[in-house]
Amino acid sequence: MSTYRADPRHGVAWITGGSTGIGRSVARMLAKEGYTVAVTVRPDDPIDDLVEETQGMAGRVMAFPSDVTHEAGMAAAVAAIEDQAGPIVLAIFNAGAYVPVTGDDLRIEAFRLSFAVNVFGVLNGLVPIVDRMRQRGRGHVVVMGSISAYFGWPTTAAYGASKAALNIMAEALKYDFDKMNIRMQVLNPGFVDTPLTRKSAFSMPAMMPVEKAAERVCRAVRTGGFEVTFPRRLTWLMKLLALLPRPLRELALRTSTRWKAEPLVYLRRSTFD
Ligand SMILES: NC(=O)c1ccc[n+]([C@@H]2O[C@H](COP(=O)([O-])OP(=O)(O)OC[C@H]3O[C@@H](n4cnc5c(N)ncnc54)[C@H](OP(=O)(O)O)[C@@H]3O)[C@@H](O)[C@H]2O)c1
Repeated sequence: MSTYRADPRHGVAWITGGSTGIGRSVARMLAKEGYTVAVTVRPDDPIDDLVEETQGMAGRVMAFPSDVTHEAGMAAAVAAIEDQAGPIVLAIFNAGAYVPVTGDDLRIEAFRLSFAVNVFGVLNGLVPIVDRMRQRGRGHVVVMGSISAYFGWPTTAAYGASKAALNIMAEALKYDFDKMNIRMQVLNPGFVDTPLTRKSAFSMPAMMPVEKAAERVCRAVRTGGFEVTFPRRLTWLMKLLALLPRPLRELALRTSTRWKAEPLVYLRRSTFD
């Protein structure tokens, strides 16, 4: 028997980080598919316009403010969602933060923030929801990774390390989640045009429009396997690079990013074109 896959008729979809970018578009699409979508946003991020926009759709969007870095707040958010909207059958841990790091400007804070949001921000929601899913005998969990998880490349010391941690965590938990009838998926997108990538000072190849990326997320939920990556022309190239002996990969990255000795110069100019 295959592991459970979420269905809007069974309960609520919960997504974290729905104020902007991929999370916001996915919330809108899931509401169109008929889900009641509980969206976790930071308390100072009202999404009244999204709630209004989705009125008249098959499903609806409800806002549940919480900062993902607050353990107790996330447990309270899970309880509030289930009390007010119904059982969560699909949890998408999407909230994320990208803080570029260069070796000449190392700051603990960049790592602390990246791990607080990208790793512990997932765990703070995962622990309470998996407990409930386990008791119900089914559930579906999606974590948002990144192709930066595959190997180290310039500026991703904190972000890439946190996304690699998520990938390992998801893969390790899948063994037990399978037995608990909880589907575990990890999505590793390439570059998507959102406020997150707009923070980047360098150009990024194969950039996807956010709506297209959200479609890929929703398709992954409906039919995807454990790891889903997009766009393939970039992500398969990254997987190929990951298989190379490290010195060859380093050479390829130094050449393609035109990485020289000066990291700050690197950040100021286009690196992939
Ligand atoms: N864009 C890409 O190229 C790309 C590629 C690979 C993976 N991803 C991943 O995809 C996910 C979505 O990213 P995006 O590109 O859509 O970026 P985004 O537009 O910046 O969205 C990030 C979301 O996370 C929320 N968030 C951040 N810190 C939070 C916190 N402490 N508590 C609650 N919410 C918090 C943000 O809320 P605020 O508005 O309050 O900050 C925002 O809603 C992230 O996990 C990212 O790492 C993105």
